Amino acid sequence: MSALLSALGGHRSKRLPVWFMRQAGRSLPEYRIARADTTILEACLQPDLAAEITLQPVRRHGVDAAIFFSDIMTPLVLAGVDVEIVSGIGPVVENPIRTAADVDRITGSRIEDLSAITEAVRLVVAELGDETPLIGFAGAPFTLAAYLVEGRGSRDHLAARSMMHAEPEAWHRLLDWAARLSGQFLTAQVDAGARAVQLFDSWAGSLTRADYTGFVADHSATALSSVAGRVPRIHFGTGTRHLLTDMAGCGVEAMGIDYRIPLDEAAAVLPGLPLQGNIDPALLAAGWGPLEAHARDVVERGKAAPSHVVNLGHGVPPTTDPAVLTDLVALIHEL
Ligand code: CP3
Repeated sequence: MSALLSALGGHRSKRLPVWFMRQAGRSLPEYRIARADTTILEACLQPDLAAEITLQPVRRHGVDAAIFFSDIMTPLVLAGVDVEIVSGIGPVVENPIRTAADVDRITGSRIEDLSAITEAVRLVVAELGDETPLIGFAGAPFTLAAYLVEGRGSRDHLAARSMMHAEPEAWHRLLDWAARLSGQFLTAQVDAGARAVQLFDSWAGSLTRADYTGFVADHSATALSSVAGRVPRIHFGTGTRHLLTDMAGCGVEAMGIDYRIPLDEAAAVLPGLPLQGNIDPALLAAGWGPLEAHARDVVERGKAAPSHVVNLGHGVPPTTDPAVLTDLVALIHEL
């Protein structure tokens, strides 16, 4: 069995598996060439291109998994929502969702056709073979709603966090709709051959624990349940030290840990759960000495968990020297 799948199953094998969130993309010159003047969301819907970009970091770095090249916004685009990704800003939603009437409007949208996704996944899986699994992913309902309600990225998500209290019924309908969309996106990837999935709740850390359990967790569980029993499920967020047990309770086989929480501390609150993470992305640009020392420390602390998938504690920064990532993969494989 591949090193990734055995680690996600709770077993330690000889090889410590490693992959990186955002391993495909702007840190790679071959990505910038391949995408040229296609927008990112267009690239996500061109199967040949999405497949090629997915495979680039596997070829270059020798990572133990591919992550499907797409975006958490792709299912929204497929459902006809007016969203763009603006360079340097991130997702921008033309008409933010703030009222019950806005929610009525958006929840009428459906995904009609996922064939661009399934076709790209099939191309990737055919090329990867058995040793290197493809990880599918989706945005968690809260992180999607954070963009839909705020209209763009936000530091504290005030509008979204107000809305859940001001319009609880509309909020739950919005999150239920988002959860089903994410569930469909995950299911399509698994149907076409993805062998693990990750749910990204990147911005859940801005929530109180009470708001997470009262307004969010059930919907993340709905999204994750779409592929329950079929493939291992990883759940990831940033700034989520106070939410780890609740996020794990959404129905997962492994937890992704951000760089702020040492893995041995995470293991103490998540006994028995495989952990993924959590090399600080800042160390990628700090020189090899500090990076190597930090990576060794992460691997040491990861021994507190039943098994460990090495990753970063958030995505690869676009300015990263790709040679550093290649060297880091080699180091992890030596340890
Ligand atoms: O290699 C991979 O990880 C696979 C591809 C992937 C992308 N986005 C491609 C992408 C994945 C897994 C994502 C997930 C994603 N998208 C998240 C969750 C992960 C996280 O980082 O917390 C979020 C919050 C988004 C929304 C989003 N899309 C943002 C904030 C941005 C950055 C905008 C910018 O210009 O700074 C994007 C755009 C995006 N998605 C890029 C890539 C490679 C960069 C844009 C480009 O190449 O032009």
